[in-house]
Amino acid sequence: MRRVTLVLVSLLSCLSVLVRGEDPYLFFTWNVTYGTLSPLGVPQQVILINGEFPGPKINCSSNNNIVVNVFNNLDEPFLFTWNGIQQRKNSWQEGLPGTNCPILPGTNYTYHFQVKDQIGSYFYYPSMGMHKAAGGFGGLRVNSRLLIPVPFADPEDDYTILIGDWYTKSHSALKKILDSGRTLGRPDGVLINGKSGKPDGNDEPMFTMIPGKTYRYRVCNVGLKNSLNFRIQGHDMKLVELEGSHTVQNVYQSMDVHLGQCYSFLVTADQEAKDYYMVASTRFTKSVLTATAIMRYANGKGGPASPALPEAPAGWAWSLNQFRTFRWNLTASAARPNPQGSYHYGQINITRTIKLVNTAATLDGKLRYAVNGVSHVDPETPLKIAEYYGIADKVFKYDIIKDEPPTSEDKITMEPNVLNATFRTFIEIIFENHEKSVQSWHLDGYSFFPVAIEPGTWSPEKRKNYNLLDAVSRHTIQVYPKSWAAIMLTFDNAGMWNVRSAALERQYLGQQLYISVLSPARSLRDEYNLPDNSLLCGLVKGMPMPPPYSIGA
Ligand SMILES: *[C@@H]1O[C@H](CO)[C@@H](O)[C@H](O)[C@H]1NC(C)=O
Ligand SMILES: *[C@@H]1O[C@H](CO)[C@@H](O)[C@H](O)[C@H]1NC(C)=O
Ligand SMILES: *[C@@H]1O[C@H](CO)[C@@H](O)[C@H](O)[C@H]1NC(C)=O
Ligand SMILES: *[C@@H]1O[C@H](CO)[C@@H](O)[C@H](O)[C@H]1NC(C)=O
Ligand SMILES: *[C@@H]1O[C@H](CO)[C@@H](O)[C@H](O)[C@H]1NC(C)=O
Ligand SMILES: *[C@@H]1O[C@H](CO)[C@@H](O)[C@H](O)[C@H]1NC(C)=O
Repeated sequence: MRRVTLVLVSLLSCLSVLVRGEDPYLFFTWNVTYGTLSPLGVPQQVILINGEFPGPKINCSSNNNIVVNVFNNLDEPFLFTWNGIQQRKNSWQEGLPGTNCPILPGTNYTYHFQVKDQIGSYFYYPSMGMHKAAGGFGGLRVNSRLLIPVPFADPEDDYTILIGDWYTKSHSALKKILDSGRTLGRPDGVLINGKSGKPDGNDEPMFTMIPGKTYRYRVCNVGLKNSLNFRIQGHDMKLVELEGSHTVQNVYQSMDVHLGQCYSFLVTADQEAKDYYMVASTRFTKSVLTATAIMRYANGKGGPASPALPEAPAGWAWSLNQFRTFRWNLTASAARPNPQGSYHYGQINITRTIKLVNTAATLDGKLRYAVNGVSHVDPETPLKIAEYYGIADKVFKYDIIKDEPPTSEDKITMEPNVLNATFRTFIEIIFENHEKSVQSWHLDGYSFFPVAIEPGTWSPEKRKNYNLLDAVSRHTIQVYPKSWAAIMLTFDNAGMWNVRSAALERQYLGQQLYISVLSPARSLRDEYNLPDNSLLCGLVKGMPMPPPYSIGA
């Protein structure tokens, strides 16, 4: 009788889960500490999460609730951000200095967010100061719920590969260099999942593949400065997804992965059963930095990898042409990068064009980077929280930059840089890069359609060459030197969203801004309230809580 009751109860609770659509929860407790490792052979300070470098992977499925309790055991304030996770109605979980008060040393704070139907590959990283230069990053993958089909067969296994350039100096030493007005200079090496690889071929394998089977490799550039090329000796890489969108499945021998970007490939173990090198090397640099890692065939005779590494492509043109081969798979039902439905984005009228030009300048003898003449600084009171408490005017001014950049590029000011965008409007953003180095722009809160990248300067006539049909919806886009990129999106996610150069030095020295998207009704339909557990700091500390958003509004 008791057993019957138990079965009944559990049946009922299953039913209620189904009926109420209660989405599953994944809980994580992360202890953030310093440690000492020698990724390039020299002992240095790194940031560990539960002792791991890179940090633990978050493996979740669409609609999962992710709860991460972060214990900051560093000697500095700390935050994590979830690069590419859209945080619908929920910029409270962005974990940036413009949206959140930092987690003070010796304290903890719990992030709580729900991932939606953005099935694909992402990463998280520490967002304050130069912390990212010390690690603290890790992979984050969103799998499809069983109901939603994915346009390829289940791979045998799923591997996360975080590649990035790397400095042997500590994050505080790097910060000191930038604070003193100097530039970081060249990185010291490249890492693949925290390792640089020895050239003698005697490394332990990072991954193994069973002959004949197909694997998914998710490759993200978590570095600070350089675009990287990724390739696997002797193996084709079939691109299936990038930053949450399923692509037309083209085959590549190598892929340029710019700062902040993620790609996933299917790789089949269809070669002689031995070891092979995976290679990540810097692009567009005078001296090339390279890292390798071993991929081994299981059950093979285990021959060593050939020391002849596959060559990287040369030049910008190759990279631009590769970008132009990316196409969104319009018939794949799985990917819904924009749940609000701008599938026919090419037919929506543009309501506003914002042109953003990145510049480098010297201010009071110190190097700063700017967007349209403004070098962003984070006020002590986070922008979003000041706005919520109704004291934005005490903390920052909206729209200090215009939609057109100023004509003089060497005069800049330092202040918080916040644009006001009208909720639900369809906006075109042009990123124009007059500098000699490649740029990589990231937008939080959305995925966008990158409709063109071209050399030269932008003008309205260039719109006739846009890809208005099947651009791959994503969150980070490269802009080559003396070139521009155009993106389009509907600003339908209320919140305070960061636009940043994914190059950490540029970001830290002001090349970023926020876009405030407010729903005119303070309505829970459009945006969540400030969570109860939010940390408060600056001017809002001790202020009475503002009236919450309401359901009916
Ligand atoms: C975090 O790690 C440090 C160093 O290992 C340890 O002293 C501390 O107790 C840990 N804290 C938690 C909350 O696990
Ligand atoms: C990740 O999650 C998926 C779906 O829940 C599961 O099938 C898979 O085994 C998990 N992979 C790892 C490496 O935990
Ligand atoms: C800190 O961690 C404890 C559990 O150890 C938890 O109960 C508490 O809610 C956490 N505090 C915050 C602000 O997240
Ligand atoms: C696009 O997705 C569909 C549906 O899953 C799949 O059958 C098709 O092969 C994919 N097309 C390409 C070109 O990759
Ligand atoms: C877009 O603009 C054109 C020209 O102004 C107008 O005719 C058309 O109706 C608009 N389309 C939509 C969907 O609003
Ligand atoms: C922002 O734009 C909205 C919509 O155009 C407008 O109603 C609002 O007054 C603007 N806010 C500020 C602070 O400029």
